Amino acid sequence: MRKKIVAGNWKMNLDYNEGLGVFSEIINMVKDEVTGTQEAVICSPFIHLHSLVQLAKGYTKVSLGAQNAHQAESGAYTGETSAKMIKSIGAAYVILGHSERRQYFGETNELLAKKIDTVLANDLRPIFCIGETLQEREANQHFDIIKSQLVEGVFHLDAAHFSKLVIAYEPVWAIGTGVTASSEQAQEIHAFIRKEIVAKYSQEVADNTTILYGGSCNPKNAPELFAQPDIDGGLIGGASLKSRDFVDIVKVFN
Ligand code: 13P
Repeated sequence: MRKKIVAGNWKMNLDYNEGLGVFSEIINMVKDEVTGTQEAVICSPFIHLHSLVQLAKGYTKVSLGAQNAHQAESGAYTGETSAKMIKSIGAAYVILGHSERRQYFGETNELLAKKIDTVLANDLRPIFCIGETLQEREANQHFDIIKSQLVEGVFHLDAAHFSKLVIAYEPVWAIGTGVTASSEQAQEIHAFIRKEIVAKYSQEVADNTTILYGGSCNPKNAPELFAQPDIDGGLIGGASLKSRDFVDIVKVFN
């Protein structure tokens, strides 16, 4: 059965020393307080990533991820970071398709499909983010948007590769706004995503796919969200910068 995961996305926050401090607190709290089989993942800026992997050695419930990777294997792409480099330091995950990358860096489904392939070819697990804007929801287009993000971004994969993915539903209107999707709204979309995976692949693949919710998730609203049958954890922004809040969200699965 699918794994429960709570992943933190630090975005462009915390300098190097602050990041090491918060992460040290997280691994200590996870070690002492997390009793279930859930996995805690921190997706840090590249600057921190190697040091955090070293700190996490021996802590089986804590993994690390990057927040982006370039679609090419290597080459003259000044300022970019390759999936191979990320793999070589021992990170396990890469967030792809976050709405901030779609919005501010022009990342399209077509580009993301290439990034997905490169990340998978380097034996990393993509956390593939999808979600509609407020305007799209108000125009009742949210199901169509989610479907096209799946079809154009990841449904070119065969079942074996698709099975490495984590999907994250992040309604853009809920990110960093303090307005979370209701548990009914989130469950409705998660069930829709799982149904699309059944139609494209199989019931078995769908049952084994971890689907996270992201958008103003905090220790207060996480229990109700994570109690929904198709919500398998969270992708946490702001609350992952505070060790106590993040670990309290991880502990919802104790
Ligand atoms: P917030 O939890 O700050 O709303 O951010 C969610 C997010 O974008 C995680 O990727």
